[in-house]
Amino acid sequence: MMLYRISIIHGPNLNLLGNREKSIYGTESFESFLNKMKSKYGAQLQIDFYQSNHEGDLIDYIQSIQHTMDGIIINPAAYTHTSIALRDVLLAVKLPCIEVHISDISSRENFRQISFIKDCCISTLSGLGLEGYDHAIQRILEIIPHWTKD
Ligand code: DQA
Repeated sequence: MMLYRISIIHGPNLNLLGNREKSIYGTESFESFLNKMKSKYGAQLQIDFYQSNHEGDLIDYIQSIQHTMDGIIINPAAYTHTSIALRDVLLAVKLPCIEVHISDISSRENFRQISFIKDCCISTLSGLGLEGYDHAIQRILEIIPHWTKD
């Protein structure tokens, strides 16, 4: 069986998951959920995880994985709605990318309606809670074998 390597990348304030605005983002910490995903996908998949509250650090990290990872699952949090630099680095590294939001950004405030990365991603999963990441993993595993960087 082929081993694929993916990175799940989190933007600002997602380190507070489990404690932050629980009615919107739930009570489970991401570490706990990630452990479940690692057991579920086992040897088939290496899942790395990176979280930062800093835009430039997210960009440095994405640049650094260009040749070591097969795909990206990203929840840029508030940078979704503000960061052209994040969009540009996703286009630069040419890795298959899936956008995830825990809440349904389409039914929230107007300023959350714009995603600067949406059209650089294969798909966007929004409003499925943490389960959205599981769907994203399944989708990226389907895509990676067919992906070419040109
Ligand atoms: C979020 C939605 C964003 O609008 C918000 O800034 C976040 C989390 C989500 O996962 O629902 O921090 O990306």
